[in-house]
Amino acid sequence: MVNYKDLGLVNTREMFKRAIAGGYAIPAFNFNTMEQMQAIVMAAVETKSPVIMQVSKGARNYANGTILRNLAKGAVEYAKELGCEHPEIVLHLDHGDSFELCKECIDNGFSSVMIDGSSLPYEENIALAKKVVEYAHQFDVTVEAELGVLAGVEDEVSAAESHYTKPEEVIDFSTRTGCDSLAISIGTSHGAHKFTPEQCTLVNGVLVPPPLAFDILHEIEKKLPGFPIVLHGSSSVPMEEVNTINKYGGHLEAAIGIPEEQLREASKSAVCKINIDSDSRLAMTAAIRKHLAEHPGDFDPRQYLKPARENMKKMYIHKIVNVLGSDGKLAQC
Ligand code: 13P
Repeated sequence: MVNYKDLGLVNTREMFKRAIAGGYAIPAFNFNTMEQMQAIVMAAVETKSPVIMQVSKGARNYANGTILRNLAKGAVEYAKELGCEHPEIVLHLDHGDSFELCKECIDNGFSSVMIDGSSLPYEENIALAKKVVEYAHQFDVTVEAELGVLAGVEDEVSAAESHYTKPEEVIDFSTRTGCDSLAISIGTSHGAHKFTPEQCTLVNGVLVPPPLAFDILHEIEKKLPGFPIVLHGSSSVPMEEVNTINKYGGHLEAAIGIPEEQLREASKSAVCKINIDSDSRLAMTAAIRKHLAEHPGDFDPRQYLKPARENMKKMYIHKIVNVLGSDGKLAQC
């Protein structure tokens, strides 16, 4: 058993309380590589922001759970080396799909887990989440559960159609499961193709997607005052990165994300965790494609991974400062 506290990690409880009270959201960035980890830590230290580093089942399959846990341990030490004496870093399992997987992560240094039973019938979702909560809370590990279904494909999670969260279910669900935070479905979705062009309106040459269902979010907030709400599928899919990818040999068509103003608005509400993965993938791929196209003789991975890391760091800082507002929000610097 590896306890996350021995690795210098923290759970989400205190940071969520402060985020709701302060009207901002904590960034939850997915990672599978050392360069993503370094970029996340550099951005969090530079902006003095708490941060959630999250790992999906696909990331564990790709990079190995033990290696990722040690990267998170390294992240804490690296943050201190960069001058942050009291970093607040969460190692979170994204979209855990079974009790066994959540238990394995809790037993191996994760400070937070998500149990995603959102595709199960309501009572089964409750039973599964409750079982994970009962186990996790023995070790002071926090648990995110999900109600409502997001469309889109992300690693091994996919759903063809979304179903908005039903506000009338949230009190019963959160009380009976005992979960610490609740991921809801209000129109976001996973991946870089969140909307079809037909679903969007053309405004000044830009395709603007339909707005998120803020009415549902506000109803949920009323039913669960002060309860931490999570938004998945919150990449904005910057056109600049998509254009760079396409300019240098890529082929990404009709990639559309969530406008940042909407995420800014959500951050001011009970939404206190915003998940971003695709934007990091785009930033990394755009920088690598550009570098290799401009330097066809380079073959040392450090030559193209360095600009990729820089580009991701720039994107993370932008999200923290200009979208989520979690800069300067460490309890102690
Ligand atoms: P994006 O694909 O919008 O980055 O969403 C990531 C996510 O929600 C991870 O759980």
